[in-house]
Amino acid sequence: MKTDFGLSAYWMPYTGNRQFKQDPRIITGADGVWFTDSDGRKVLDGHSGLWTSGLGHARPEITKAVSEQVATLDFCPPFQFGHPKAFELATKIASLMPEGLNHVFFTNSGSESADTSLKMARAYWQLKGETKKTRFIGRQKGYHGVNFGGVAVGGIPANKHLFGEVLETDHLSHTMLPENVFSRGMPETGAHLAQELERFVELYGAETIAAVIVEPMGGSAGVLPPPTGYLKRLRELCDKHRILLIFDEVITGFGRCGAMTGSDAFGVVPDILNVAKQLTNGVIPMGAVIASSEIHNTFMETAGPDYLLEFAHGYTYSAHPVACAAGLAALDVLVDEQLPQRVAQEAPYFEDLLHEQLSEKPFVTDVRNYGFAGAITLEAAGDEPLKRPFELAMAMWEQGVLVRYGGDTIQMAPHFVMQRPELERLVGTLSDCLDRLA
Ligand SMILES: Cc1ncc(COP(=O)(O)O)c(C=O)c1O
Repeated sequence: MKTDFGLSAYWMPYTGNRQFKQDPRIITGADGVWFTDSDGRKVLDGHSGLWTSGLGHARPEITKAVSEQVATLDFCPPFQFGHPKAFELATKIASLMPEGLNHVFFTNSGSESADTSLKMARAYWQLKGETKKTRFIGRQKGYHGVNFGGVAVGGIPANKHLFGEVLETDHLSHTMLPENVFSRGMPETGAHLAQELERFVELYGAETIAAVIVEPMGGSAGVLPPPTGYLKRLRELCDKHRILLIFDEVITGFGRCGAMTGSDAFGVVPDILNVAKQLTNGVIPMGAVIASSEIHNTFMETAGPDYLLEFAHGYTYSAHPVACAAGLAALDVLVDEQLPQRVAQEAPYFEDLLHEQLSEKPFVTDVRNYGFAGAITLEAAGDEPLKRPFELAMAMWEQGVLVRYGGDTIQMAPHFVMQRPELERLVGTLSDCLDRLA
């Protein structure tokens, strides 16, 4: 593989740098559902980039919008000034959100969305005069990015242990019950686990809990659809105890679950909903936090004279004009081509492929799926639970298919436009590589 640019200076994120630099995987092009590597091989992108690019890569609509925007307004200070596309995109996003979520605060990533939503929740309660409401409840196996707030509420131990704790948090149990293995779609058992919130209320007092943050469907821990009734129960308990409910929809937002949002797919509306990734189809970094009118209006009504800030928060690149142009074009494609509906239609086919081809394979201890998201869990190789997924993903890369390996799982996230032969190639290659690894 061609690496005459030098490998040592770039400290790669979430990558085994030492292994990578011995055996680099360099991607040089992308089109539709395919990547090209630096040897000129076509590689099937089985993960929509990084859950980002459901519309397929190099969509001409987005390319055109981005090029035009760079030439017209390449930057606009987002503090104290605005540009038309920021308002257009916020209006568009609000129109696609569940009823009641009407106000869009722009960020540049999922991690920034997580920390923004936590700050928004705390500030809301401060403005309401409930100054003790500062604690957050996350969930085991939850992933909310890598900034300090997100790490604190997150529940994947490997992401936490070197960094210490900075927030008062606690964590609900995860919902991967042994009786739910090999569930198709939402597992039947587990709604009772939401009830644990009552224990935290008893332990800490509802007057100290600002918000619960969960992914409606866990993604990074390896596709954990919510058990039937779980999110509804969580919503009821949050209402009962006046605790805000935040959905981190960085993966589920904009189509992945066969509906516009996870909230729509699972029929539960949060107070705050975080998005990123699919918002611009991954083309330009962008995220957003969408708040209820109650939250937004509380800031607007209690901030003092109107020349003062209502929320002392924001990023230099919030609502970047080029990201806004990409977002507007990407959401138009998503809506015009009815891609969430396509995902809903094709999801049963993907589900059948996953369960029929993978359930009986060596090392596979679980298969899970929802919409266009699927994962398997693999038995540990001796005392090395992370090794086999890595080896399997490398074997698949050799065969020209990219999947994500994370923890003891392999994760697949087909593009919303992926056709059946490509879905078959994705799952078929995984199946073959499992046999070969045995
Ligand atoms: C649910 C969730 N929240 C937050 C993030 C962090 O997003 P980013 O990597 O854009 O900061 C991710 C990324 O995978 C995610 O899946």
